[in-house]
Amino acid sequence: MKVNKKLIVGNWKMNKTPFEAGILALEIAAKAKSINNKKCEIVICPSFVCLDRVSKAIKNSNVLLGAQDVFYEKSGAFTGEVSADMLKDLGVRYVIAGHSERREYFGEDDEEVNWKALEAAEAGITPIVCVGESSEEREEGREFEVIRRQVLEGLRGLNRGSFVIAYEPVWAIGTGVVATAKQAEDVCKFIKGIVGKDVRVLYGGSMNGANAGELLNMPSIDGGLIGGASLKNDEFIKICQS
Ligand code: PGA
Repeated sequence: MKVNKKLIVGNWKMNKTPFEAGILALEIAAKAKSINNKKCEIVICPSFVCLDRVSKAIKNSNVLLGAQDVFYEKSGAFTGEVSADMLKDLGVRYVIAGHSERREYFGEDDEEVNWKALEAAEAGITPIVCVGESSEEREEGREFEVIRRQVLEGLRGLNRGSFVIAYEPVWAIGTGVVATAKQAEDVCKFIKGIVGKDVRVLYGGSMNGANAGELLNMPSIDGGLIGGASLKNDEFIKICQS
């Protein structure tokens, strides 16, 4: 089965206070009315403390709620952590697992990413498992090897259909250096070769209103994970319109 509906996910990272997030979510929800929800599913991922506010702001719209991270234990003495059940209770439908910033600054490895993805899926939240090579790994020609490992280890034990993958080359995140459509397509196609054609594979890394059309037109790219450009309502909606 070919994936027809595009999935556009905004990752707001550590930006916006709850008050500001509520306003941005209302703006996006209003503008998203113009988007055909049979063709495009829209998700926004604010920080944990903004989830409740954003959830209320997007109620009755065609925008869904996502979170940026989740902990892999169900409950207990894990100060500062947030469980999948807590997210579920707030209406969270998707959660990002293993973003390269979590891997780089918080030491997450494939095993931890896998635990998080399994925990989310068990709670009925779709994990968006992020994979991507660094610039050194690409220069050494090791991108496919790295991605194969991240995919196989990060998705271990997950049922097909219960997860989404985001290919985000580390060198393209927040740098303004977007992968060419061919580079992105080649890796997304490679990932589908491992996990199956019907699994949704997103591209992320400096996607914006100007380059989204070409990337989203590629046959193996089923959507986008958007950082910087998801913080501006016009730009984000432009990507959804692409
Ligand atoms: P960017 O971030 O769009 O700002 O490059 C993408 C991401 O980190 O998911």
